[in-house]
Amino acid sequence: MVKGRKMEMILLLILQIMMAATAVNVTYDHRALVIDGKRKVLISGSIHYPRSTPEMWPELIKKSKDGGLDVIETYVFWSGHEPEKNKYNFEGRYDLVKFVKLVEEAGLYVHLRIGPYVCAEWNYGGFPVWLHFVPGIKFRTDNEPFKEEMQRFTTKIVDLMKQEKLYASQGGPIILSQIENEYGNIDSAYGAAAKIYIKWSASMALSLDTGVPWNMCQQADAPDPMINTCNGFYCDQFTPNSNSKPKMWTENWSGWFLGFGDPSPYRPVEDLAFAVARFYQRGGTFQNYYMYHGGTNFDRTSGGPLISTSYDYDAPIDEYGLLRQPKWGHLRDLHKAIKLCEDALIATDPTISSLGSNLEAAVYKTASGSCAAFLANVGTKSDATVSFNGESYHLPAWSVSILPDCKNVAFNTAKINSATEPTAFARQSLKPDGGSSAELGSEWSYIKEPIGISKADAFLKPGLLEQINTTADKSDYLWYSLRMDIKGDETFLDEGSKAVLHIESLGQVVYAFINGKLAGSGHGKQKISLDIPINLAAGKNTVDLLSVTVGLANYGAFFDLVGAGITGPVTLKSAKGGSSIDLASQQWTYQVGLKGEDTGLATVDSSEWVSKSPLPTKQPLIWYKTTFDAPSGSEPVAIDFTGTGKGIAWVNGQSIGRYWPTSIAGNGGCTDSCDYRGSYRANKCLKNCGKPSQTLYHVPRSWLKPSGNTLVLFEEMGGDPTQISFGTKQTGSNLCLMVSQSHPPPVDTWTSDSKISNRNRTRPVLSLKCPVSTQVISSIKFASFGTPQGTCGSFTHGHCNSSRSLSVVQKACIGSRSCNVEVSTRVFGEPCRGVIKSLAVEASCS
Ligand code: GAL
Repeated sequence: MVKGRKMEMILLLILQIMMAATAVNVTYDHRALVIDGKRKVLISGSIHYPRSTPEMWPELIKKSKDGGLDVIETYVFWSGHEPEKNKYNFEGRYDLVKFVKLVEEAGLYVHLRIGPYVCAEWNYGGFPVWLHFVPGIKFRTDNEPFKEEMQRFTTKIVDLMKQEKLYASQGGPIILSQIENEYGNIDSAYGAAAKIYIKWSASMALSLDTGVPWNMCQQADAPDPMINTCNGFYCDQFTPNSNSKPKMWTENWSGWFLGFGDPSPYRPVEDLAFAVARFYQRGGTFQNYYMYHGGTNFDRTSGGPLISTSYDYDAPIDEYGLLRQPKWGHLRDLHKAIKLCEDALIATDPTISSLGSNLEAAVYKTASGSCAAFLANVGTKSDATVSFNGESYHLPAWSVSILPDCKNVAFNTAKINSATEPTAFARQSLKPDGGSSAELGSEWSYIKEPIGISKADAFLKPGLLEQINTTADKSDYLWYSLRMDIKGDETFLDEGSKAVLHIESLGQVVYAFINGKLAGSGHGKQKISLDIPINLAAGKNTVDLLSVTVGLANYGAFFDLVGAGITGPVTLKSAKGGSSIDLASQQWTYQVGLKGEDTGLATVDSSEWVSKSPLPTKQPLIWYKTTFDAPSGSEPVAIDFTGTGKGIAWVNGQSIGRYWPTSIAGNGGCTDSCDYRGSYRANKCLKNCGKPSQTLYHVPRSWLKPSGNTLVLFEEMGGDPTQISFGTKQTGSNLCLMVSQSHPPPVDTWTSDSKISNRNRTRPVLSLKCPVSTQVISSIKFASFGTPQGTCGSFTHGHCNSSRSLSVVQKACIGSRSCNVEVSTRVFGEPCRGVIKSLAVEASCS
C-alpha cells in the first residue's frame, strides 16, 4: 500500500518535471529573441483567425510552415470576442484557443497582438461599439473608464491563454505579445496624456505576468522592457530605442488592402523579398508579413470607411487559401537562404561596407569562422557587377544577394526560381444543370422591404442624429423620415421645373426616397453632398432618407468620433433659386435597421417569401432568396454578384459580407506591369482600374452542403439576382518560368562545401511542378533557351534561340508531375556566344 503511494508520488514528480521541461524561457537581447538561451532568427506571418474558418486553419498553417515561417502573428479581435459587454464569444471563427493550439501542433510559435486596439481594417479598429457608450469614456488615452475596460479585456485574454497553458513560459507556443498598436503614429493628438497612457499600458501589460516579452509597434518611446518594433514597407533603417533590444519588424505589408471604389493594389515579390533581405542584412532578426494570408471580412467586420469584403492583401496565400505563385515560392526560397545564415546572423552585428555607389555589403563573421554576407544594389536603374572577396557578382538593380558562406550565392531577391501558377475562376450557374435565366428567376422568391418607417420601435426627434450614436452599429441602416406639407407654395410646385433636395452626409451611402420612390443616391468616404431634383405634390409629401454605413473607421486619432450618417444641412430649394426650406431642424422619425433584419429573414424561415413571377428586379430594397446545390469538387467557392447592386448576403444563415459589384474603381494609376525597382507605396502598383472593385465573394466550403443551400440577399440599390453565378477557384493548369544563366541554383541544392569551386557548382535549374498531386505535365506551350522576351503567358522568341529548346524540355517534363532542367549550354548547346542566356518555359498540367 505504502509502496503503491510512493510509486504514485514518484510518477507524479516525473510528470511534473517533464511538464516543466517543456516550458520554454523566452527573453531578448540586442541581437534577437532568445529562446531557451539561444538567439533565434525568426520569420513570421500574419493570419487573422476570424478572416477564415476553423476548417481552413490547419491548411493555412501548414502552407505557412511549408513556406518557411516559424511564427504566426495574429491580432485578437475584441469586438468579435465580446460583442456585448460581459458576453463572450470564443466559438467558431472566434475560437482563439483552437487557433493557437493548431499553430502549436504544427510546431510553430505565436505572436499574440492583443491590442486591444488593432486597426487592421476591422470595424471600429477592433473595439466593440458598446465601448463608445461607457459613461465618461475617451479611447486610447489616460482615461479611467477606458483603461478599466482595456485592462479587463486584456486580462481576460491573458488569463484564457494561461488557463490553456499557451504561453511559452508554460510550454505553449506564444513567445511574444503586443499591447496597443501604432499609438506612436498618432499620439501627439492626445497631448501630454499620451505619455501617461503609454506608460500605463506597458505596466498594465507587464503586470499580467505572461512570462514572455511584450512589444509595442511604432512606439519610439516604448518604456523598458517593452520592445519597440517597426511597421512599414521597409524597416532596414529602423533601430530600437535601446541597445539591449533586438531589431524587429512586426508588419511588413505584403501588399495592401482593397477599398470599395478603389483599384486593386499588388506588391511585386521582387520588392517584398528585397525589403526582407535588406532588413536581415541590416541587423534584423525577426520580421512578419502583414498579411501572409489576408482572408475575408465576413459579416459586417470590415473597417472603414469603405473597406471591401475581400482582405486578400496580395498575400503569399490568397484569400481562398491557395498559394499565390511565384510570391509564396520565391519567399520560401528567401527564408531558406536566410536560415542558412542563422549562425552568423545571431552571433554578431553586421560589418557594413560600400562596394560602390548604391552598392553595399554586410558581413556577419563569427569567432568560430562562420561567415554570411548580404550584397545589395539599392540603385533603382542599373544592374551592377561587384567584386567581393576577390570574386565577382552580378547584382540586378534593387536586389540583394545572400551568400551563406560569404562566397556562394544562395539567393538573389530579383532572380525568381519559382514558377508562376495562374489561378482562375471556373464559372458555374446556380443550378448545375444550367437552365435559362427565366427558369432560374422562377426559383427566386422575394420580400419587399418597406420604404421608410415600418417598425414599432421607430422614434421621433427634432433635428438630425449622428448615425453611430443612434444605431450603436446594430445595423448598417438608419432611416431618417419626414412628412411635410407643401401648402401650394408655387416656387416648389412650378410646372416643368423641379425642386432640389440638398443633402449632406458623413457617409457612407445615402438613398433619398420622395413619396415612396427612389429619387437619388450617393456615396462617399467622409462627405456626401447631393443635389437631387425632385417632384413634389401639393399637400403631404414624404422624404425618406436611408443612410448606410460600410464599415466604421478604424484608423487615426479619434477615429471613433468621426461619425457617420446625415449631418445636414438638408434643405429644399426651389429650382429657380429664391426660396429654400431648412429640413434639418424639423421633427424627424428614426428607424434603426430594417424590418427584414428584425424578422431575421437571413437566418429563420418566413412565410412572407413571395415566389410568384415575375420576380421584381432593378428595384431598390428587396430581399431575395433561392436554394442551390454546391459546386462539385473541393475547390474554393465564390459567388459572382455581377448583375446585383449593393447589399449583404447570407449562405445558410452565415453572413458572407457586404457585396457591392457596382462600386467601380477609378480610372487612374493602374499599370500592367509595375516596375518593382524603387520604393514601394500603397498606390504604386494597381490593377483593375475602371472595373468593379470586387465581384467575387468567398463562400467557405464548410458553410455549404452538397445540395439544398439557401442564399439570401438584401439588395439595396436594385439589381437582378438571377444573374448571380458561382466560381470555383482552380489552381494552375499552366506553369511558367524564366531562369537565366546568372540565376543561383535552387536554394535546396545549396551546399557550403568550399572545396567545390564556384564555377563547378550546381548550375541554375528551371524546376516545374504541377500544383495538384494527380496532375502531370501534359504539354509544353513554349520553350526557348536563348534570349526569350516577355512575361508569363506572353513569351516570345528573341533573336537567339537554341533549336533543341522544345525537345529538351519536352523530354525532361512531359508525363511527370515535376521536372528539373539545367539552364546551361551543356544541355542546350550554344545558340549565341557572349550573351547571358535564359530558359523560358510555359507548360500545361492536366
Ligand atoms: C497598420 C496597422 C494595421 C493595418 C495596416 C494597414 O498601420 O497597424 O493594423 O491597419 O496598417 O493594412
